[in-house]
Amino acid sequence: MQNLRKIETAAQKIELLYTTPSEWKEIAVKNFDLFIVDHAACERKASAMGMQFVVRYPDKPYLIEAMIRFAREELYHFHQVCKWVLKRGLNLASDEKNIYINALLSKVRNGREEHFLDRLLVCGIVEARGHERFSMMAEALEPGELKTFYEKISLAETEHHELFIQISLKYFNEEKVYARLHELLQVEAEVIKSLPLRPAVH
Ligand SMILES: [Fe+2]
Ligand SMILES: [Fe+2]
Repeated sequence: MQNLRKIETAAQKIELLYTTPSEWKEIAVKNFDLFIVDHAACERKASAMGMQFVVRYPDKPYLIEAMIRFAREELYHFHQVCKWVLKRGLNLASDEKNIYINALLSKVRNGREEHFLDRLLVCGIVEARGHERFSMMAEALEPGELKTFYEKISLAETEHHELFIQISLKYFNEEKVYARLHELLQVEAEVIKSLPLRPAVH
């Protein structure tokens, strides 16, 4: 209950209930090539997720406008990360299922309205986790182009998680949004805690 209140006062911010240990940073920096290939895949999937909202909810103009902007921005991120991948002489990864995302999506409820709210909130939480991990990466990297790039990416992910809360509040009342957000944050904390620390975004 205390956590819920904390979330409510931090307007449109998501406070994750689990903090990534700093060992993750060491693992990810040490295996940066693996990390950046995974990062590229995450940006591509985020963009596709944005467009899925557009396809699924053709009757929601506010959502459509926001999601087209979101999908374009994530596609731009993908392009930028892709350039880094190629610059390092690496290949993009083939399309693989993301255990973390799938575990969260498995908690999305049925029913048109519930499904819509849960998908928005899951996206917001995933963006918040992305912000946390990209900030850690930015912190860990030596000063230079790559560090600056991760600082910018991390900032963009903050705006994205706020965007999903904003959209949720446009279509659902505050009480409903924050109560469900809190439940899904608890799920996310359990899921991420159970996964091994690896050179990947999740
Ligand atoms: Fe992104
Ligand atoms: Fe994002």
